[in-house]
Amino acid sequence: MTRMPWPNATPPVPTDPVWQEFVTAAHQADSHAASLRVIDAAGLHVDVSAQRQSAELDRAAEQLLTQRHLAAAREALFDGELVNVSEGRAAQHSVLREAAPPAEVAMERERVRAFVQYADTERRWRNIVHVGIGGSDWGPRLAVAAFGNTGRWRTIRFVSNVDGHAIEGGLAGLDPRDTLVVVSSKSFTTTETMLNAERALNWLRAGELPEPWQHVVAITANPERARAWGVPESQIFRFWDWVGGRYSIWSSIGLPVALSVGSEVLAGMWAGATEMDRHFKTAAFERNAPVQMALAGVINRSVLNYGSRAVVPYDTRLFHLVPYLQQLEMESLGKSVGLDGSPVTLPTGPVVWGMPGTDAQHTFFQWLHQGSDGAPVDFIVCRHADHRWPQHHQLLLANCLAQRAALLRGRSPQHMPGSAAETASDAHGAKLAAHRATQGGRPSTLIVLPRLTPHALGALLALYEHKVFVESVIWGINPFDQWGVEYGKTVADRVVAALTDRASYEAEDYDPSTGHWIENFSRAVQGKRS
Ligand code: F6P
Repeated sequence: MTRMPWPNATPPVPTDPVWQEFVTAAHQADSHAASLRVIDAAGLHVDVSAQRQSAELDRAAEQLLTQRHLAAAREALFDGELVNVSEGRAAQHSVLREAAPPAEVAMERERVRAFVQYADTERRWRNIVHVGIGGSDWGPRLAVAAFGNTGRWRTIRFVSNVDGHAIEGGLAGLDPRDTLVVVSSKSFTTTETMLNAERALNWLRAGELPEPWQHVVAITANPERARAWGVPESQIFRFWDWVGGRYSIWSSIGLPVALSVGSEVLAGMWAGATEMDRHFKTAAFERNAPVQMALAGVINRSVLNYGSRAVVPYDTRLFHLVPYLQQLEMESLGKSVGLDGSPVTLPTGPVVWGMPGTDAQHTFFQWLHQGSDGAPVDFIVCRHADHRWPQHHQLLLANCLAQRAALLRGRSPQHMPGSAAETASDAHGAKLAAHRATQGGRPSTLIVLPRLTPHALGALLALYEHKVFVESVIWGINPFDQWGVEYGKTVADRVVAALTDRASYEAEDYDPSTGHWIENFSRAVQGKRS
């Protein structure tokens, strides 16, 4: 364990007077009324009006942030200190997007640019098969879907899951002569990725290409492994162990984005993210968008006890934003011990879930409006669309605003305008009114992008990264490790061994149900009838 780079490593306790003042102020703030509070940050408008707010709450929040040493923590992050204490690593992903990054970053960036330029000039590779998972997959998927909406001359297919149907579908119908396989993996050891990569390599070999390895590119922080696997040195693009997987879209991991939708998309995303970095570093806390979103996140989770938060982009091109944020937030904030190893006593990171609107309205909004739990919502929308039909965009904007307003104000039985049944004083009318009432008071944030440009997407992703960091500082947890996932991987390795080799199976290692299914499945795996 590395020493904490800022003074307060202990998670807050419910009895702490500063915390208690924050809790009291949050409870006292009106849940149904919004006074306009919009923060402009890196070209985005972040409207936190529909979150709890009051002058007392602002004061209590300021005290809390001082007690948690947020300013020192932020400095440590940007100074490259070892903020990832359990792995002894820095978390310097923001360096990757700087206009003038350190030499090794600039050199790798240039290698990616030159490779893409060569491929484009030569019109090489009509098809890209991208093999990678988690942080080595969601970022490229998101950016390609966001900016490839109107078609592009290259086809790109993403293969992440170890389910053989994924690689089967990923390769189906492609001509190996015109296909590039991009293997993205920070560690270059991830089981799913390595098996899928092997499968893709065999497919290239079966294509009787003169030089199959010329059709493979590796992107990794472990170039030795990529070399040992067989990738030619000139086709290995690297990044570094101080780049967390879920923060790696800013690194060479962006190469498939450049191949698919253009190098200028990456450059635009870097610029937008850098502008958000600047905002986070310099804006006063009460006008700082990531800080205010984080405070709302902590109130909603640890004070109001909401166990989840919905993310609803009113833009179908941002479909992959939901899983991207699920990884960013849930791998980062799904922690139950403090930086100092002591147990946390407040609830930490919520479940993140969602779907683009307006589909979401016909899927889970009923639960948001009238369910017993409800959840805060992040609404994300672009002021301008990039298609030719203003009527569609008007409807989209109106629906976004309407849902948010309805969740905030609710509708009480006494205030139901409209039909006679609603206002009737007879018993039936009263019952009907009860069914139709919605309680309101559901918190939300509205993020308005001018339009979906690479700059805006970069700013949006950096906004969420910094929000997550601030939440982790308030909760006193490490947002940069993922030991639970690592544990899951080791158990999976043992089960794989048990399924394929009876000798390695120890019944007492497992609960009765897992043991039963290992025995049952091992017959299927070994080709016997079950
Ligand atoms: O999901 C766990 C994880 O370790 C992520 O943090 C990471 O993005 C993903 O696996 C893939 O890892 P790699 O890039 O090393 O293949």
